[in-house]
Amino acid sequence: MNNNTLDKAKEILKKYNQEHLLCLYNELSDEEKEKLVNQILKINFEEILTLYKNSFKEDVFSLNDISPLEHFEKSSFTQSELYYYSSLGEQEIKNGNYAVVTMAGGQGTRLGYKGPKGTYMLDLEPNKKSLFQIMCEDIKNANKKYNIEISWYIMTSEENDITTKNFFEINNYFDYPKDKIKFFTQGKLPLINTEGKLILQEPYLIKEASNGNGNVFNSMLKHKIIEDLENQNIKWVFLGGIDNVLLKNVDPLLLGLTIATENQVASKSIFKKSPLEKTAVYCSKLGKPSIFYYENIDLETSEKKDLNGKYLYREANILSHLMSLEAIKKVSNITLPYHRAYKKNAFVNLEGVKEVPSKPNTFKFENFIFDAFSYFDDMLLLRVNADEEFAPIKDFTGIYNPDTAKEKYINYHLNTDK
Ligand code: UTP
Repeated sequence: MNNNTLDKAKEILKKYNQEHLLCLYNELSDEEKEKLVNQILKINFEEILTLYKNSFKEDVFSLNDISPLEHFEKSSFTQSELYYYSSLGEQEIKNGNYAVVTMAGGQGTRLGYKGPKGTYMLDLEPNKKSLFQIMCEDIKNANKKYNIEISWYIMTSEENDITTKNFFEINNYFDYPKDKIKFFTQGKLPLINTEGKLILQEPYLIKEASNGNGNVFNSMLKHKIIEDLENQNIKWVFLGGIDNVLLKNVDPLLLGLTIATENQVASKSIFKKSPLEKTAVYCSKLGKPSIFYYENIDLETSEKKDLNGKYLYREANILSHLMSLEAIKKVSNITLPYHRAYKKNAFVNLEGVKEVPSKPNTFKFENFIFDAFSYFDDMLLLRVNADEEFAPIKDFTGIYNPDTAKEKYINYHLNTDK
């Protein structure tokens, strides 16, 4: 290890009050020493510590800025309307203008499963299927129905990229055309503990983690996914998460409605049944599509209805989004705001001992995908039936656990598969 480089690293740590990161340095091998010092030189301490400091500033929220965002309800359409819009969407899909992005770069800290969440095996007795397989089967069904091969992009994190790719390899890409699948990694940021200190994942490694699903646009630009989509003449991109086993990756109705209403951005919502449920809902903020965080929604606001008796703020986000490639290009250059999340992360303490916390201990900074929608004047919002389209796996003890997902998955497929 070059002494100059080590001195430079020490200087940076001193400036940002992070000298503890070298506390186990003397016990490291030469290779490990080099790795740690290089990581210190690469990390943008100014950025992460500013994010940390600013995250304690009181959020200025005014109900006066908020108004309802109009939405359609799938259940209100007549058969002929459903047919009309779906045919419109179908035509675009059949023309090969549609691609899918699966955002699978999350840490899945609540589930606490070792490995990428997409590799989690859902027990569908007698078979087990990984979340990746479930997602793949959904896209394969569309390929079969429309006689096409949809380009499928999977966003991973630096942490889970290799394991994810290996998982696809050993599973023979679930018989999906291999050349139609592309992986790309998203950005990362260091984690910070409650004392404002970065933490060690290993004695030679500072813990960094993916920086939120909203980083998808910057990452698509950086890894030339946008260019790849352009080269294929793709016009529409569906963006969804990995953990909803009822996610409809290819829905001609959503696409047809988006085209017919001349929108560039569309999302699906489900009705938020309980007024004070901890779920964000769609709204309009200062005239732009936005998200209304549950922390700001009181009972009175949540119970508000229009003159026709329809709730104004009950359209819950389910991470099911459609955007035109033009819209993605527009936001791919923008730095979206960071939100602070409090998560459970194991770390190596100053004595070199690994500690596994039983409750959240670290702050993580994340971009949220829906913040990109505020860059558009309008968007299409379509309310769908939660029993048909929303069965996420978030943890083992809450309402979104593997058992509830399995039940909904089985019920749905019993009713729809022949
Ligand atoms: P969640 O917000 O539920 O986060 O992600 P998570 O990482 O899966 O789980 P927790 O909060 O740590 O328990 C919703 C979707 O967004 C993806 C996830 O993979 C999931 O499909 N995501 C999340 C990313 O792709 N990148 C991220 O940085 C965060």
